Amino acid sequence: MQIAVLPGDGIGKEVTAQAVRVLQTVLGKDAEFTEGLIGRAAVKAAGKPLPDETFELAKRCDAILFGAVGGPGDESGPRNLRPGLGLLTLRRELKLYANFRPAFLFPELIGASSLKPELVEGLDLMILRELNGDIYYGEPRGISVGADGRRQGVNTMRYSEPEIERIAHTGFKAARKRKKKLCSVDKANVLETMQLWRETVATVGKQYPDVELRHLFVDAACMELLRSPRQFDVIVAPNMFGDILSDAAAMLTGSIGMLPSASVGEGSKGLYEPVHGSAPDIEGRNIANPLAAILSAAMLLRFSFSRENEAATIERAVRSVLAAGYRTADILQPGTKNLGTTAMGDAVVAALQRA
Ligand code: IPM
Ligand code: MG
Repeated sequence: MQIAVLPGDGIGKEVTAQAVRVLQTVLGKDAEFTEGLIGRAAVKAAGKPLPDETFELAKRCDAILFGAVGGPGDESGPRNLRPGLGLLTLRRELKLYANFRPAFLFPELIGASSLKPELVEGLDLMILRELNGDIYYGEPRGISVGADGRRQGVNTMRYSEPEIERIAHTGFKAARKRKKKLCSVDKANVLETMQLWRETVATVGKQYPDVELRHLFVDAACMELLRSPRQFDVIVAPNMFGDILSDAAAMLTGSIGMLPSASVGEGSKGLYEPVHGSAPDIEGRNIANPLAAILSAAMLLRFSFSRENEAATIERAVRSVLAAGYRTADILQPGTKNLGTTAMGDAVVAALQRA
């Protein structure tokens, strides 16, 4: 098993190190890890956010373990030097169009959720974010000078029917394996692209009569997610709305430090990353929560290598560490023990060794 490790920036480096330790513990000599540069670190060292070497590494490997990219100031400056572009290019070039972001609440973390326990108890929903289209990639785009001599910004929300169809199929299939409920999110009341999204998802839905399909406008979906999240099973969303909804869903699970993700396409290659950012404010302090990265490693085993047993073993190890009362600062609760990033990694590795 060839695994590319792209830690990126900020706490990405710290949490990825713990995920690699966990994979080494369960895989032993079965896996070979090769590190590559991406993001800010790559701009600094190689002048671009996705150096050719990293791209080649990612193409060659079976799976990519990713940390986080970016830092303060990313919103200004030339687009081709933005750290996030490294990640966006990988997603698109490798055709990883389906991004699974499971919002699962470990019972031990119920008190850390942003919602009252009675609203989130048993929360287990899957956000499926389309990852290769939408306003993230649509052309034309850019900042130009208009006829009045003032600047204007342009981005284009664009989806083709085949792009919507393939993510819709992924959504229905995912729902089939769960509670058979799919909620499709759009803004069809305002945007033509989203009207096409809704029509296309509904048409694909005819092939899945056993799955209950519902459509929600994104503002209503956001409200429902915060009001009564357990009504959802699988949520399928266009790229940008999925980005936003998944951060909100993370808070319901106790912390953004708890949300893992898997980005896959037609083959078995996948990119696995914690949903949280690079958190430059806590970089280098050994306090970041590595559990989303560790749970992403479990998704890597499940999605890219069909190693369901090992994936479940990692998830159980995380659970047992939480049950033992160990927490990082972001999920700390009265009566629990505050561990640093590496100590949390130690605890998961120890639990795996006992398993
Ligand atoms: C995410 C992130 C990225 C995105 C950024 C870093 C480009 O927010 O994966 O959710 O917007 O997709
Ligand atoms: Mg995001």
